[in-house]
Amino acid sequence: MAPRWPEEVDVFSVPHSRMKKLVHKYSDLITTTDFRDEDHLTTLLENLKNVFSEFKAHERIENMLIMKRLRIKLRAASVTSAAVCNCHSDNRLTDMLDLVLDGYRWTQKTERERQLYGRKLRHALEDFTQNFIPHMEEEEEVFQPMLMQYFSYEELKELKAKVIQQHCIS
Ligand code: FEO
Repeated sequence: MAPRWPEEVDVFSVPHSRMKKLVHKYSDLITTTDFRDEDHLTTLLENLKNVFSEFKAHERIENMLIMKRLRIKLRAASVTSAAVCNCHSDNRLTDMLDLVLDGYRWTQKTERERQLYGRKLRHALEDFTQNFIPHMEEEEEVFQPMLMQYFSYEELKELKAKVIQQHCIS
């Protein structure tokens, strides 16, 4: 299917392609990790820590560069959008990162306890993924059209370049 927007003004697709790769990565890892094994668990936690730190950086960049500016544009046009205001309002990423960091303490416990932690982590990751994929789709399908409506083409080109640059350096 042809992209709906010219690539040079599509601010979400490139970062989201990276985020979706990370989702696949942890989905594979979680299914192959033997939680009874301390080294397996430690390797998984290191990977998840990096993944969720990257997700948090992604969210920060979107808040700082996209949502904040979109809100200003909407306000200037006297338009209110609860979706834009609430887009990153929950603590899902922070909670996931906390759960991952908490996992290091379980590496020192019994096999049985590590398995219990693994079960909890697996469920939390599934729940997170079920929300994160639709969240990215919402940004692509709802917010990108809003950006097209309220920003000039040149503004969006510049915005996309900044978004990509920030993802590269964070
Ligand atoms: Fe692009 Fe808010 O995740």
